[in-house]
Amino acid sequence: MEADEKGTGSAADFIASEPPLDGMAGAVRGCRGCGLYARATQAVFGEGAAGARVMLVGETPGDKEDLAGHPFVGPSGKLLDAALAEAGIDRAQAYVTNVVKHFKWRAAPYGSGRRRLHDKPSAYEIGACRPWLEREIAAVRPVILVCLGATAAQAVLGPSFRVGRDRGRFFDSDLAPAVMATLHPSAILRADDRAAQMDGFIADLRLVAERLAATGPEERG
Ligand code: URA
Ligand code: SF4
Repeated sequence: MEADEKGTGSAADFIASEPPLDGMAGAVRGCRGCGLYARATQAVFGEGAAGARVMLVGETPGDKEDLAGHPFVGPSGKLLDAALAEAGIDRAQAYVTNVVKHFKWRAAPYGSGRRRLHDKPSAYEIGACRPWLEREIAAVRPVILVCLGATAAQAVLGPSFRVGRDRGRFFDSDLAPAVMATLHPSAILRADDRAAQMDGFIADLRLVAERLAATGPEERG
């Protein structure tokens, strides 16, 4: 990537006015809204049922997702699948996406056995990519939006949101009737008390499952 590669500043420059979901997944490949496209293998768009009542939002695709072209298929995805199953949420009935659609990475130290390490997206990149997330939400109209980790939570609920303090609670939002933030699967994978963190994650997802069950099938965002 050239040092001055900044993209146009907004994914909106690459989105048709009323795109259907499958059309967006194609259009995102041509997005130059920020510079991240330049070093990623491919864009990783959201996936799942078009009529999904729950949408899960992560941060950025990881190494495995970048290579596969699908969200949450690496180690974090495996943990997410296990937690969803424990909570009684069928991933096939959910829509899964990320706030940023291209993998951001830095070179791993020589000899570490890895090549690319995840790097946190900047506020500029998150802001540039946000139009894709907004269009996904508008197309899927989930009843509940679940933010996985602080990056997603702050992108959706505002910069003052603190996952440690406010996780597991439902908030109103312009984007969906209910928004909850919880832990990011990769934070659980890194935690010393992994089992306890996993229990907390599953408990939050059970609240989502209960609220979904209590919401009529006709209700949408
Ligand atoms: N972490 C994320 O936030 N999203 C993915 O798709 C994979 C890992
Ligand atoms: Fe576009 Fe988002 Fe990729 Fe940046 S990260 S180029 S805004 S799709």
